[in-house]
Amino acid sequence: MTYRSESGPGGEPPPGPLPVRAGGDSSPAVPLPAELAEPARTLFADRLPLAASYAELLAGPGVLRGLIGPRETPRIWDRHLLNCAAVVELLPVGASVVDVGSGAGLPGIVLAIARPDLAVTLVEPLARRAVFLAEVVTALDLADAVTVVRARAEELAASRRESAGGRRRRPGRSGRSAAPLPVEPGGPVELANLPAELRVPADVVTARAVAPLDRLAGWCLPLARPGGRLLALKGASAAEEVAEHAEAVRRLGGSPPVVRHAGLGVVDPPTTVVEVVRERAGRTTAPGSAGGRRGSATR
Ligand SMILES: C[S@@+](CC[C@H](N)C(=O)[O-])C[C@H]1O[C@@H](n2cnc3c(N)ncnc32)[C@H](O)[C@@H]1O
Repeated sequence: MTYRSESGPGGEPPPGPLPVRAGGDSSPAVPLPAELAEPARTLFADRLPLAASYAELLAGPGVLRGLIGPRETPRIWDRHLLNCAAVVELLPVGASVVDVGSGAGLPGIVLAIARPDLAVTLVEPLARRAVFLAEVVTALDLADAVTVVRARAEELAASRRESAGGRRRRPGRSGRSAAPLPVEPGGPVELANLPAELRVPADVVTARAVAPLDRLAGWCLPLARPGGRLLALKGASAAEEVAEHAEAVRRLGGSPPVVRHAGLGVVDPPTTVVEVVRERAGRTTAPGSAGGRRGSATR
């Protein structure tokens, strides 16, 4: 995955309502290559126009804001949308899905477009990416199915453990409990304001291009219900990662990782997915621990 720095050329364009093609907008059209029309119809069915609108948002504001590299534009359909959509065959009907490290929405937004029966939570710590995700959700009218949470995966898991245990947030030095943050309408949800109906822990946790399998298991397995699954979209390194990290995954409470190929006979190449079942509670990655932090979460 190629990502540019998030500061766009000449400064950050002011966030505003994202354009959805309805005539007279500024997003470039992203033509669906003829050879991909069949798989795209198979995977998106009557939601194909929605997928096309998302492709335009990625190629327009997504590139302008530095969330996706300009060289990705010609391969948005195959390398991004279809690669992610192929995973739907691994998702049960009506499943709750947490997508960790969604970035510009991959695979979480794609899954929500292809499968309106899913309840999707996008977890993304970087502010500009989370704001973009929330704007995409509004622009594509996905708010009934998709919630954007601005947090690190391990922070979200810790906060869910805390609320499941009935523990209250510790008061600060002033002795007062932290008040909920004001909610920005249509913006990402902050940890202090998680909606009660959030379906976390979830049936399935997805992640693409976020971290090596051992670190990913530490972040993601606590966000899956017991018996739920982590589906890590991986490239050619999948088998190697499985061999290297199987023991760490076991210690974290996961089953032996299995490499699956999704979209066989539909997309070429099929999407390589490493599947791990959460068998039991394991050692977790504490927020702020060496394995858990990478850079600042303020962008
Ligand atoms: C290379 S990007 C991949 C984005 C997207 N999944 C894709 O395939 O295009 C990695 C993303 O993971 C996010 N990330 C990094 N550490 C994370 C953590 N601990 N919890 C949740 N997201 C994290 C980053 O902010 C970034 O958006």
